[in-house]
Amino acid sequence: MSDKKIIIAVDGYSSSGKSSMARALASAIGYRYIDSGAMYRAVTLWAMRHGMVESGNVDVDALVMALPEIRINFRPNPDGTQSTMLNDEDVESEIRRMEVSNNVSQVAVIPEVRHRLVALQQDFGREKGIVMDGRDIGTTVFPDAEMKVFVSASPRTRAERRYKELIDKGVPATFEEVLENVVKRDHIDETREESPLRKADDATVLDNSEMSVGEQNEWLLSLFNSIVNAD
Ligand code: DC
Repeated sequence: MSDKKIIIAVDGYSSSGKSSMARALASAIGYRYIDSGAMYRAVTLWAMRHGMVESGNVDVDALVMALPEIRINFRPNPDGTQSTMLNDEDVESEIRRMEVSNNVSQVAVIPEVRHRLVALQQDFGREKGIVMDGRDIGTTVFPDAEMKVFVSASPRTRAERRYKELIDKGVPATFEEVLENVVKRDHIDETREESPLRKADDATVLDNSEMSVGEQNEWLLSLFNSIVNAD
């Protein structure tokens, strides 16, 4: 393998499996993995805990004022997984709850939240050797990333995956509410003014509706190898 370290941006729809494949790629090539969605979820959880989210409405002014108080980081665990840390508290499971999923898009549309998190994400990428997944990584966070992938799959396929994931984790949910959440988040993510979900012109599309996890991982690894060995 070449020693050249690059930045890898994996963008796509919610529950497209992009986090699992980005994590698997990072581990296979010895890169750091950053889940940018977890950062938006952590800010959302903080806002919910501080009474700034009522029936889906966010108190934008209060949250923007409080942003300097919110510290987000990632901590590696002994079992190889990593935890999202919110002001030094491990919130990895809590940020995956449906209540957080239902509110996160409303927090992610706030320009000040995005600016702050994008700056933090860019800091993580300073040394390269990073795989980051999200919605705007290839377009806004790292427009010069050497490898960009845009992952897509049908809403139903994604809802099925997300539902199974939640049930396996013991999180209560119905398939209908998961599907509804997926469709609603797609809409908000695609139509927001600030950094909408959009394929970067130079990203390679991966539609994984019919692919196994092993096939996806192989596909990504071979794209990576072709990029780092190109020159
Ligand atoms: O990938 P995820 O479902 O955990 O992301 C949670 C939310 O955060 C999702 O609704 C969109 C938002 N998000 C974003 O706006 N930009 C990113 N780079 C990552 C996530």
